[in-house]
Amino acid sequence: MAEHVCPVWVGHLLANPVRKLFQNPRKIFKPYIETGMTVLDIGSAMGFFSLPAAKMVGETGTVVCVDIQEGMIKALEKRAKRAGVLDRILTRVCFEDSLKIDDFKNRIDFAYAIAVIHEVPAKTNLIEEIYNALKPDHHFFVAEPKGHVSNKDFAETIQIIKNAGFTLLDQSKAMMNWQAVFKK
Ligand SMILES: C[S@@+](CC[C@H](N)C(=O)[O-])C[C@H]1O[C@@H](n2cnc3c(N)ncnc32)[C@H](O)[C@@H]1O
Repeated sequence: MAEHVCPVWVGHLLANPVRKLFQNPRKIFKPYIETGMTVLDIGSAMGFFSLPAAKMVGETGTVVCVDIQEGMIKALEKRAKRAGVLDRILTRVCFEDSLKIDDFKNRIDFAYAIAVIHEVPAKTNLIEEIYNALKPDHHFFVAEPKGHVSNKDFAETIQIIKNAGFTLLDQSKAMMNWQAVFKK
């Protein structure tokens, strides 16, 4: 696995519930996720965000979890089973330069990429794939960790996302993250 990619052992730390104190999935997703939606989690790791998202979409919804590392996806499936939401989680191991989500063209109601874009070398391609998967008028939420990503780097990421056709709706700073919301 490439050096810039978060190792699987760190995935266990990222899934720690204490993280909710400063990055609460339910609060972040409240404006965007409704029952029955199909949600795309890019770089899901072990599902710190996917499991709450799966509870929010309910029995009729789906969370598509895509990650480059099989170890992350296997651990996510175990955690989803324990949480009783495996039935509404669809997992996929992708390539470094492709999310392999062509079959979701215009089918995603809400997409998010949290602490992942800085790990992806082919950012333009990644964003284009997300754009194609999202339904028109629907939201894409991005967050990047301040510790790894400078303000300038985040501004560049925002520009790449806008260049793909997204409209920037909101940009904010959380305690440890840069955040932005876009609309297709
Ligand atoms: C720092 S972790 C963040 C995980 C999760 N979003 C969270 O906030 O808990 C980044 C994740 O992105 C995944 N990743 C890295 N490059 C990727 C790529 N090109 N496509 C999909 N996932 C990728 C890594 O395997 C890792 O699980």
